[in-house]
Order: sequence, then structure tokens, then C-alpha cells
Amino acid sequence: MNLDFEKNAEQVASYLVFLKTLEPGTGSIIPALQDMQSRFGYIPMEMVQETAEALKVFSSQIYGVATFYAQFSMEPKGKWRFDVCLGTACYVKGAGDILKKLEDILQIKSGETSADGLYTIESCRCIGACGLAPVMTVNGKVYGKVKEDDIELIIASLKEDEDDNVE
Ligand code: FES
Repeated sequence: MNLDFEKNAEQVASYLVFLKTLEPGTGSIIPALQDMQSRFGYIPMEMVQETAEALKVFSSQIYGVATFYAQFSMEPKGKWRFDVCLGTACYVKGAGDILKKLEDILQIKSGETSADGLYTIESCRCIGACGLAPVMTVNGKVYGKVKEDDIELIIASLKEDEDDNVE
């Protein structure tokens, strides 16, 4: 997916200013990636090229680091990111069914983002809340003892939050 420069003009401008503060060289690749990830929510290829020029490194070096670390994503994520824990405690309590139900409702598979850019489904390993199994998070907010029937309600509550913000 190409970066929409018009829509992201502010983030692009501020990232380019930040980029100028970094020393050229491979030691600045991770700080640059961390900044891109937090500013854009992912690592846009267009910014990788800009970064390579500024740091005087190859794009492939930046790409290599970005794809090595799980904290960096080369794909844009949805506005709402669901992470279903598939650790052992959650799995035995039905996390697989929770994930399947979420996939059915949102019509996307784990690892995918909906075409409208609203939802991403991912799975993760134990997040240390096994006593609440099965657990899922939405943008980091933990939902515990989740039942299949809860999923639609959780999604509806996200939409309500959105509507509230529009008013
Ligand atoms: S296994 Fe899911 S929180 Fe530990």
C-alpha cells in the first residue's frame, strides 16, 4: 500500500525533521524505524528510501532490520487492532473459537486488515493474564474471560466510541 502523502503531510514533515537529527550510519536505523512505526503505525516503503538517503545506508539494510524485529510492521494496521492470545491457558479455554468468531464477523483472517482500514486481527502468545483466560486485547486494552457472544458487543462498543468522538 502506498503512503498517502497528502493525508500524512504532517507526519511526513515531522519525520523528515527528526531524520535530520540522526547521525548517518547503521546505528541510526533502529531509532529511525521506531520513530516511523510510532508516527505512521507502520514502516512505509517511501520513508525507507528517504531514510536510506539521509543515513547513507542501503534501503535493503533498513528493510532487513525492519523485517527482523516483530515490533516493526511493513503493512498499515487497522484503526482497531485485535490480538487474540493463543497461549496455552487461553487456548484450552477456547481462544481458537474466539479467533474464529472474530474472523467470521470481521470477514478477515488473522494477520489481515479490513479493506476499510478499520480492523486488524492478530494472534499473540501469553500476555501474562492467564487467570483471565481466554484473553484478547483491542489496541492494548485487555478483555478477559471472553465468550464468543461477547465479540459482537465489543465491536459495537468500538463503533459507539467512534460515534461519540464524531459528535
Ligand atoms: S496464555 Fe493467554 S494470557 Fe497467558
